[in-house]
Parts: sequence; structure tokens; C-alpha cells
Amino acid sequence: MQEQLFTTFFHHAPPGLDVDAIRAQWSALRPPYDVRQWVLPLPLWAKRPYDDSGAQAWGQLRQELTQADHDKPFCLYLHIPFCASKCHFCDCYSFKLGAYQEQHIQRYVDQLCAELRLWSQQGNLHRCPVSTVHLGGGTPTFIGAAALEQVATCCRDCFAVSDATEWALESTVADLTPTMIRVMDDLGFRRLHLGVQSLQPDIRAAIGRRRPSAEVLQRIADTLALGWVVSVDMVCGLPGQTLAGWVADLHTLLAAGVDGVSLYELLVYPQNQKWAAQQGLTKPDRHVTNYFLFQAGAALLAAHGFGKNLFNHWANGRDANVYFTFPTRHEDCLAVGTIGDGVFGQYHYRHGRYAAYLRADMTQQPGLEGGLRRTAVENALQPLTTAVLAGTIPPALLPALQRATAHSATLQAQWQSAALITPDASGGFTLTPNGAWFAGNMLGDMLVV
Ligand SMILES: C[S@@+](CC[C@H](N)C(=O)[O-])C[C@H]1O[C@@H](n2cnc3c(N)ncnc32)[C@H](O)[C@@H]1O
Ligand code: SF4
Repeated sequence: MQEQLFTTFFHHAPPGLDVDAIRAQWSALRPPYDVRQWVLPLPLWAKRPYDDSGAQAWGQLRQELTQADHDKPFCLYLHIPFCASKCHFCDCYSFKLGAYQEQHIQRYVDQLCAELRLWSQQGNLHRCPVSTVHLGGGTPTFIGAAALEQVATCCRDCFAVSDATEWALESTVADLTPTMIRVMDDLGFRRLHLGVQSLQPDIRAAIGRRRPSAEVLQRIADTLALGWVVSVDMVCGLPGQTLAGWVADLHTLLAAGVDGVSLYELLVYPQNQKWAAQQGLTKPDRHVTNYFLFQAGAALLAAHGFGKNLFNHWANGRDANVYFTFPTRHEDCLAVGTIGDGVFGQYHYRHGRYAAYLRADMTQQPGLEGGLRRTAVENALQPLTTAVLAGTIPPALLPALQRATAHSATLQAQWQSAALITPDASGGFTLTPNGAWFAGNMLGDMLVV
């Protein structure tokens, strides 16, 4: 049955795809690892209730910050929740603005800047080096040149941004006009996370991408020509997706010179459930074909010499993926803006949603929803959690991996026997493509321990 599913799917595999390597991964899977029941790695606030209200969390964070080193780097994440329209498939916290767009944007940007100023007055934060300024969303470029300049200037005024700081943004091609690229380049941005999703015309139409794939490739070429690091997001599980189309897309993007690729499986949540059902994307078996597509993507990226620096992100040597890898460097993360979630030391916090964020008096406290301090157990698991999410388990963590037992075997034995990890040249382990798919389950295994 398992073999039959595999053979049917890969019957007409494109030449050059290492089908045997993918089969080896599929054949190694055994309970409790079922591709239909994989779980996403979740942040702390999604796993258990907050310890503190927003006001209490701010008190905790202020204390944490008075004790912080003045030379410990941190990364700065700013969430911009706006988009020109809401894509049917999307599960991000983002929305289309109705009337009075300019006023909405101005009000939001003013709140964001007031929040940045408030944080910069805490402890030594204004002196600590900033590793990256990352604009996420939503579609940050939607707010326009003037607002982007206001935000970037505020970051530079408030914090120790230097030439070593990487300025990064997430965007969609529709918003990334040549003029906008120039604006962002002038502001110092040098890294792009481009939401490509698919290059196939039918799929692009089904998910509401209005720009042709030729324009996607042109924007990639434009930004690479400016020396930017370009990473693309690709989703498997979209309507009408085929193995041939998926593999062709990845080949095209690699030939275009992208530096990094993040692979996602389409997540179906209440907000996109109706659309997904209409598109026939809610059958339980979809996870099996999506897993096959994911595996094909992983095999292809590995064959092109791309390694993982995050469980679902493959990168060449230029792409350090600075924001998403901040825990690996033991950095803190100052996240601002609606739903922004950050961490200082052992304290994790999250902001409120849009209306609550706009209501907050930023001269007193940021619009936090709540916060939590890592427990002793969560702290003990933190190095292994960070390593799994980074896709590499260094030799120093092997004793922990061998000591820890989940179900009946040690974690190391259990993960190796399902081919989730494989020994690497460092003497530690690397997450395999199976590990990339089951990273969230692996974090869950540790809590069973
Ligand atoms: C914060 S979004 C920003 C992307 C950008 N606005 C765009 O549309 O291209 C980041 C990425 O999340 C991924 N994503 C969005 N909705 C998803 C879903 N329902 N399931 C899986 N991945 C999703 C997409 O690959 C998207 O590019
Ligand atoms: S996919 Fe991108 S552009 Fe579309 S709604 Fe989501 S964040 Fe906005």
C-alpha cells in the first residue's frame, strides 16, 4: 500500500530527480511519524497560556532589559499587517484596508515608531548591536515609500544599527515595482523574502497571483543585480499542483540564481478552510502527496548544494537567513507591531491584534497581549529545541539526545530509525528531509521525555 502510493506518484518523475533517495526516506517512516499527522513547530505562547497579562509582561521585560549586556546583539522584527488584497490561501496575520487607507497607515506607522522609541529607552537596548532589521507581514512595501522611510529612519535613530546590520523585507511581486526596489535599496535593504508560491500559470490564477511568472523572474534578476540576497517562499499543496510543475519551478528559480528557498506545506486553517474545501484541498490524503512534493523539493535543493540553516529553509553560502536563525546565535529578538512576538533572555512576549495595538498608549507600554517565562524544563530543552529548528544538532548535544527517552527508545535511536536525522561531518546530526517535515513532532517528542 505504502509502496503503491509512492510508485504511482513518482511513476513519471522528471529526469535527474533522485527518486531512490526519496523512497529511502518514505520507507524509513514508522510510528509515531505519520505524514498525515505532522505538527508545526509552535512558539511558546501557542503551546500554553500566558503567565502574565500585557501590563505584567511589560514589567518583566523592563526588568530583564535593565540587566541586559550592552553589547549583546539582537534582531529587530517589525510586523506590517497590510496587503493590497487578501489571498484566499493565506494564513498570515494580514488584511486589506478599506476606506481611509492613508490615515490607517499613518496611524499604524506612528504607533510603530512610538513603540520603537519606548523600547529604545529601556536599559542598554539602544547601544546593543542590531543584527538585522526584518520587515515582515503582510506586505510591508504596501505602506509606500514615505512610511517606509519614516520607519527605517526611526530604527536608525533609536538603535545601534550599523553597516553590519542586514536590512530584510518580505514582499510579493505585485508590490515590488522597480521604483519600490530603488526606494528599498536607498533605505539600505539588501535581503528579500519573495513570496513566489508557484510559477505555474494555472496555480497562480487559482491563488490570486495576478503577475506572470516572467515578472517574478525579472524582479529576482533586478534585486540580485543590486547585490541583494534573494530567498523565495514556495508552497506545496496548492490547487492542481503536479510533480513535474513543482520540480520545473524549483529548477527555474535555481537557474535564476536565488540564494535560498523556504518550503511550506499549505496549511488549512479556519480562515482559508472554505476556499481550500472548494478547491478539493481538504482530503486527509493530501498530506501524502504534499509530503512527496516536499521531499522532491528537498532532494533537488540538496542536489544543487543547498544546505539547511532552518528546518524548512535551504540556502547557499550567501544566505545566512539572519532573522529566522536568531536563536542559533543566542540573540534576543525585539519584535514590534501587531501580533509581533519576541524574546529577551528567558522571557517571551506577544503583541495584541490590530485594534488593541492601535489603542495602546505607546508612551507608557507597548500593546502587549501577554508574556511567559520559560520553565526549568523548557530551559533545559532550549538548546536541543534550537538545534532541531536550525536543522543541525552539534556534537555537544549528543549526550542529551542519548539520555532522553521518548516512548521506548532514546531520542537519538528513535529519530535515526525513522531517518529524521543523519550523522554529519561535524560528528553531530543533520535533519534529513523527513526531519524537515517532522520538526514540530520532534519538539513534541522532547516534551514526552
Ligand atoms: C508572511 S507571508 C508574506 C508573503 C508575501 N506577502 C506574499 O504574498 O508573497 C510569508 C509566506 O507564508 C507562506 N504562507 C502563507 N499562507 C500559507 C498557508 N496557508 N500555508 C502555508 N504557507 C503559507 C507563503 O509562502 C508566504 O510567502
Ligand atoms: S499571501 Fe502575502 S499578499 Fe497575500 S494576503 Fe498573505 S501576506 Fe498578503
